[in-house]
Amino acid sequence: MAGKGLFIVLEGIDGSGKDTHLKLLARELRELGYAVVETAEPSRGRVGTFLKGYAKRKERLPAESEAFLYASDRFEHLKNVVKPALRRDQIVISARYYYSSMAYQGAVGVDLDWIREMNRFALKPDLAILLDILPEYSLHRLKRRRSIYEDSDYLRKVRDIYIKLVNQGELVKVDADRPKRVVQGELLSMVLNSLHERAPENEQEKSETQ
Ligand SMILES: Nc1ncnc2c1ncn2[C@@H]1O[C@H](COP(=O)(O)OP(=O)(O)O)[C@@H](O)[C@H]1O
Ligand SMILES: [Mg+2]
Repeated sequence: MAGKGLFIVLEGIDGSGKDTHLKLLARELRELGYAVVETAEPSRGRVGTFLKGYAKRKERLPAESEAFLYASDRFEHLKNVVKPALRRDQIVISARYYYSSMAYQGAVGVDLDWIREMNRFALKPDLAILLDILPEYSLHRLKRRRSIYEDSDYLRKVRDIYIKLVNQGELVKVDADRPKRVVQGELLSMVLNSLHERAPENEQEKSETQ
């Protein structure tokens, strides 16, 4: 990916702290002078809006159909939100991305390679982080059950796939079962490292123009 933008993804099971840390990260990065776009999957697009309603229903579609729908929403999300922001050299932070498809549909038994192949169009993020926590703790944080996915046996399988992706080097794990302040500190330093690694010459430009 060319340009000065940075694409960051936060992954994790329901209640792991994705939305909480996304907001905090965006605020801290803005205070440091970066332009940040906060986004999430399912997106605000037409398929994404359908998927948000769908997740509140009791009956699930075949997991393969879910995988197609999430991939379709992802295509729109990339085209309409992520890529334009990166072209404007902004930092994009998304709660969930194709790792969620692998974990949530994979946990129903869909072949991971098939899901990966379906998502081949999806830009690889610069930094993809797993907020890791056991379902018994994360579900405790959620005041009430809000989606068809919030079941601890199911989420255990979801987490197993996330851990597999960590072991394959696709996600970087952060222990999310610690105070917010501690988790947040670790996330910010990871993001700052990526920013510095990506574009030392751009940092120089930035300080020259300030
Ligand atoms: N490190 C933490 N310790 C305790 N509670 C947390 C922590 N991180 C998030 N929470 C709380 O857990 C709940 C779920 O967090 P949220 O960010 O909505 O998770 P997600 O978006 O991953 O489902 C919220 O009430 C949030 O305030
Ligand atoms: Mg959330």
